[in-house]
Amino acid sequence: MQVLIPSGPSLNTCSSNTLGASVARIIDDLAEHGWSLQTQFIAPSLTCELSEECRKRAAAGLLVQAGIGRGALTVVSEGLRGDHIQWLDAGQNAACDQYLAVMDELRQALNQALFMGLEDFESHFALYPPGAYYKKHLDRFRDDDRRAVSVVFYLNEDWQAEQGGALRLYLPNGEIRDVLPQAGSLLLFLSADMPHEVLPATRDRLSLTGWFRRRGNGPL
Ligand code: OGA
Ligand code: MN
Repeated sequence: MQVLIPSGPSLNTCSSNTLGASVARIIDDLAEHGWSLQTQFIAPSLTCELSEECRKRAAAGLLVQAGIGRGALTVVSEGLRGDHIQWLDAGQNAACDQYLAVMDELRQALNQALFMGLEDFESHFALYPPGAYYKKHLDRFRDDDRRAVSVVFYLNEDWQAEQGGALRLYLPNGEIRDVLPQAGSLLLFLSADMPHEVLPATRDRLSLTGWFRRRGNGPL
């Protein structure tokens, strides 16, 4: 007897249907409110692999004290933020490449639906040790206004509210929202409009934090 094995995306819990539904919600949320929170954004198995990769890199000493700014203009500013980071590069790890591919799909969908002109995506692993925080800030540098949409994907299984570590978002209408860094949750917000801060936690707090960027104004 021939056994029919379903093929294509329906085999994958991170199927294009599931992804398509959350992409549609993200588009509506960003257009209407300027921010969006999706729980279970990708398959739990991929979230788990990304979390393990982050821990592995941290254990290998690859995550470094984060600074403000980027490249030659980076300034390490203790007191403002206490996370350790490593920027993602394509081609180093299958799970990271999968994540980058999903983000590129999302980038194209946002461009199509909202004409956002997003050119690329940059992202880093971030690990906040217990007690570390990132004070209230905007994700725009004085020397770089390319960041258009901030994207944080959380990698922490079984996060409890009493463990702290919320991302506190200050919405343009005056409301304040606390988002727990729960594994599988994807938070997006318009970088120019939303001051936010990371509250200290009682356990390690892992994430992939990134930005969809527009073309810069300066000379190429
Ligand atoms: C950042 C940031 C938020 C978070 O890295 O700029 O605000 O929840 N991160 O980790
Ligand atoms: Mn930020």
